[in-house]
Amino acid sequence: MNLKDKIALVTGGAQGIGEAIARELARRGADVAVADVVLEKVENTAKLLQQETGRKIYPLKMDVSQSAEVEEGIKKIVDKCGRLDILVNNAGITRDGLLMRLSEQDWDAVLTINLKGTFQCIKAATRPMLKQRYGRIINIASIVGLMGNAGQANYSASKAGVIGLTKTAAKELASRNITVNAIAPGFIKTKMTEVLTEEVKDNLKKLIPLGILGEPEDVARAVAFLASDEAAYITGQVLAVDGGMVMH
Ligand SMILES: NC(=O)c1ccc[n+]([C@@H]2O[C@H](COP(=O)([O-])OP(=O)(O)OC[C@H]3O[C@@H](n4cnc5c(N)ncnc54)[C@H](O)[C@@H]3O)[C@@H](O)[C@H]2O)c1
Repeated sequence: MNLKDKIALVTGGAQGIGEAIARELARRGADVAVADVVLEKVENTAKLLQQETGRKIYPLKMDVSQSAEVEEGIKKIVDKCGRLDILVNNAGITRDGLLMRLSEQDWDAVLTINLKGTFQCIKAATRPMLKQRYGRIINIASIVGLMGNAGQANYSASKAGVIGLTKTAAKELASRNITVNAIAPGFIKTKMTEVLTEEVKDNLKKLIPLGILGEPEDVARAVAFLASDEAAYITGQVLAVDGGMVMH
């Protein structure tokens, strides 16, 4: 899975799964733009990744929910690097609560960042990808977008939406040699899941055939595969990286 000299963009790349994805793509030879909401934080991550991998890592302040920032961010990458080969839509948030108590604000915030943000990044990245007749788009969904989860109506709806968007984009862009796939992580050890109590984690493990929570690197390696030439004939798919929680 050689990604030598490919140009990649990872959204929400300052920490967690996004940071692991950026590291994995750079380790395999790509130059990576790492985008996140707080410039200072993403600059620190970029510095670290550049030292670790020796590749060029570009920090970008880009809030995926703001279309102007997305357009401008992607333009900056293309102006600097001449192209954009790989887009990883990883930025995402949770605002959990049972349906009856879920506020309109929490619904809107999650749908706007997780689903509309993914749409806006795909739309802006597609322009250079169409021109170069090459692209790899990988959207980070979630297994709760496939199976639902009590307390996550907004989040599971946004991730199910990402899966529908993935399939439609795959159909629209296939003729231009652009593949679009989704990864559905299960429970991965990051700040997002840090808040779960030990009891919840123990109960979760009972539902995972492999018996453990996943690491960000487990997701990152699957992204590297879908971004590689080895995955050229795969599009419109949802790959669960979840220790076997969802099988279909
Ligand atoms: N951790 C899990 O178990 C798990 C499971 C399934 C799916 N996911 C998905 O994986 C992705 C990464 O999650 P994580 O666990 O690393 O979470 P995280 O909270 O550790 O990291 C998310 C990153 O996204 C950034 N972000 C938030 N809003 C943004 C915006 N508007 N624009 C740009 N960046 C923004 C955050 O600043 C943060 O750096 C998310 O899409 C999440 O839904 C995570």
